[in-house]
Amino acid sequence: MKQSALPLETPEDWIGQVDYPTTWSAPKGQVLKWIGNKQRFAASIISHFPLRYRTYFEPFFGSGAVLATMYPRKAEASDIFGPLVGIWKAVQLQPALAKHWYFERHQMTGLLGKEGAYSAILERYNTKPNPADLLFLSRACYGGVVRFRMKDGFMSTPCGPHTLMPPDKFDVRVDDWNERLSGTQIFERPFEEAISRAGEGDVVYCDPPYTHSQTILYGAQKFDLDRMFKSIEAAKRRGAFVAVSIDGSKKSGNQICDILIPRSLFAREAMLTVGRSMLRRFQMEGATLEKEVVRDRLLLTH
Ligand SMILES: C[S@@+](CC[C@H](N)C(=O)[O-])C[C@H]1O[C@@H](n2cnc3c(N)ncnc32)[C@H](O)[C@@H]1O
Repeated sequence: MKQSALPLETPEDWIGQVDYPTTWSAPKGQVLKWIGNKQRFAASIISHFPLRYRTYFEPFFGSGAVLATMYPRKAEASDIFGPLVGIWKAVQLQPALAKHWYFERHQMTGLLGKEGAYSAILERYNTKPNPADLLFLSRACYGGVVRFRMKDGFMSTPCGPHTLMPPDKFDVRVDDWNERLSGTQIFERPFEEAISRAGEGDVVYCDPPYTHSQTILYGAQKFDLDRMFKSIEAAKRRGAFVAVSIDGSKKSGNQICDILIPRSLFAREAMLTVGRSMLRRFQMEGATLEKEVVRDRLLLTH
């Protein structure tokens, strides 16, 4: 697959310490529909990484948008959410199985209707969480909002109104991502364990869940930002480069409070923006363009 080198600026002390060139190329679409995925920002996030790296670490893997775009030669991807990690292990090691999981469930929609199949699969998942059902639910649920109830951990998202992707189109994505994961080791583990492995010349990209609203997303896990910053500090001391995504939008309840960010840990901050399509701007007519720009922040240790 063709990859293009980025015109990156590299911190001077980085040069000569690392092995692989940082490259990027957009995947042929997402395997999972996942709220908050970083696909739109992936190339600009990678453009802030050093020119070269030894091992790339992504400890909050989610739907993997940044790693898939970077297509690293050597990487460790991990997440604490077991059924999600099961999907990625299948895409990487048993792509035919991942395709079959989706095909089988797509067939059910022919028999039970989309809503009927969705309800049956959701009930089965809530009884016994598993990667095969989660894969279908993420593609079929409303807005990719894989959300879990606080009280019992059940996924509660309703079925989305959209038409499901046909299995043959899904298969193309699995093949593409299978290739993109070829240099990556995938683990189910908490971020502390993942970040503790990063050292000299490594690049770590963190996209943590944000505050209250996102605690109930992604499997009802508890999340402690202070512990994340401590892990990052130790990795920085060992010589790793760390980048952290911070939700740049100012919607209440969905951003990391600036007070929590230890400023001495980060050397700079980048504001990433993505403009909406010309068609959308045209439809907006008189409305200001400012409102149509989507923002994200990136904190960088170097
Ligand atoms: C904002 S999402 C990452 C989204 C990802 N960048 C993408 O493009 O799809 C955060 C992820 O962190 C995971 N997570 C939450 N708590 C964690 C922890 N303590 N250790 C590791 N992963 C965790 C969640 O399961 C979720 O997949």
